Amino acid sequence: MIGRRKKIGVVGGGNVGASCALDCAQRELGDVVMLDIVPDMPQGKCLDMFQSAPIGRFDAKLTGANDPASLEGCDVVVVTSGMPRKPGMSRDDLLTKNAEIIGSVSENIKKHCPDAIVIMVANPLDVMCWHLHKKTGLKKQRVIGMAGVLDSSRMAAFVAMELDVSIKDINAMVLGGHGDTMVPLSRFTTVSGIPITELIAKDRIEAINQRTRQGGAEIVALLKQGSAYYAPGSAAALMAESIVKDQKRVLPCCALLEGEYGIKDNWVGVPCKLGQNGIEKIIELKLTDAEATELKKSSEAVRGTIDALKKLL
Ligand code: LAC
Repeated sequence: MIGRRKKIGVVGGGNVGASCALDCAQRELGDVVMLDIVPDMPQGKCLDMFQSAPIGRFDAKLTGANDPASLEGCDVVVVTSGMPRKPGMSRDDLLTKNAEIIGSVSENIKKHCPDAIVIMVANPLDVMCWHLHKKTGLKKQRVIGMAGVLDSSRMAAFVAMELDVSIKDINAMVLGGHGDTMVPLSRFTTVSGIPITELIAKDRIEAINQRTRQGGAEIVALLKQGSAYYAPGSAAALMAESIVKDQKRVLPCCALLEGEYGIKDNWVGVPCKLGQNGIEKIIELKLTDAEATELKKSSEAVRGTIDALKKLL
């Protein structure tokens, strides 16, 4: 039997949502519906994007919508709605406002597409995963945070700049929460399988790590208004692709840990196998003591923000 076309929902038609919607369509993952509360805006953006399909030669319908019922039948929903960071604002400053928004998105997912797999993009990322998971009651494998793919991609870009080598040969690995405590792992970051620890001096690696941790803030400072969107949108589309095509790619994602890495009941970025069932496996790397300590610290930072949100709810 020939299966029906997949349907990808993108909640939030801002810059991240639109760039994700376009990337999903260009990858021909299925038909894309982009939802936003602003009247006409998602319709306008989707019409514009669909008008690029004859040029880019991709088969995917793109539909803008204001009615949450349009999420009906979605296989994957990417949640991008929320306020972006302003210069000087940390991701945690967005806590209360975005929790409200994600609360209502959760209701809509429960009502209209309870079988969807959700990719969370809104910040503070790890905390919003916790929030949506609690609100929807979805299985933990079906709520996945997009942060590691973005942070690793940033690290890979910095490695390419440092070594002047093709981006195609670089695989980077960043674990932990999507914040200043994230854990770039140089031992697991390679150029054609060669760890960067063999190619780049220690102090330069530390500079790359630090630039990676500050990657989002660097863009916020340059843009003056709003935050990054090309790389975040593409990162979410890549994860959606692994799910709808059941590719089983191994990508760093924010997942609910229940004992993995010695972390219990917390949302942290770790390498995950992504397939048609969402997170199909969490891969536990053997970390050095120093790496494990950094990951614990990052996990505690996430826990602190979750506790803060619990008090506000
Ligand atoms: C960033 C925001 C999207 O890292 O968290 O750019």
